[in-house]
Amino acid sequence: MRSTTNGAAAPWDAAAVVMIAQELKDLDGPLLPILHAVNDRFGFIDERAVPLIADVLNLTRAEVHGVVSFYHDFRRAPAGRHVIKVCCAEACQAMGCERVVAEVEEELGVALGGTTPDNRVTLEPVYCLGNCALSPAALVDGKLHGRMDGARLLALVRGAGR
Ligand code: FES
Repeated sequence: MRSTTNGAAAPWDAAAVVMIAQELKDLDGPLLPILHAVNDRFGFIDERAVPLIADVLNLTRAEVHGVVSFYHDFRRAPAGRHVIKVCCAEACQAMGCERVVAEVEEELGVALGGTTPDNRVTLEPVYCLGNCALSPAALVDGKLHGRMDGARLLALVRGAGR
């Protein structure tokens, strides 16, 4: 699982993005490894990284942007201090993950994919955590939990600290 909080994320550094892209550009299918490396380093993929990566790979900005947008692994903005990922794949859907998401969204006042205004919690979808037998599943700051309901997940969020 990729980074779950932005606590260790590095500040924006264009030269570092170019260096990452240069180091990985000769891989077979270099775009995804580069995006993962940038996402891991900065905690998200800054818009400013897109043209830099496109230049190194000789791609259009639209091509890079399309890949960033397509994969849920890539964050487009910095995360809050705590990251809650609710599984929205098939088995968890069958066990009511949409209800879990709706309760958490309402209580925290944030939509799936967003971060609370106080920057405390980012709520994100994830697509199968390999915990289907205990669905609905969720990650709270990288820790896997099963048989979630809204109340249990909210209690975990409250217990996560400030
Ligand atoms: S579908 Fe949710 S853990 Fe597999």
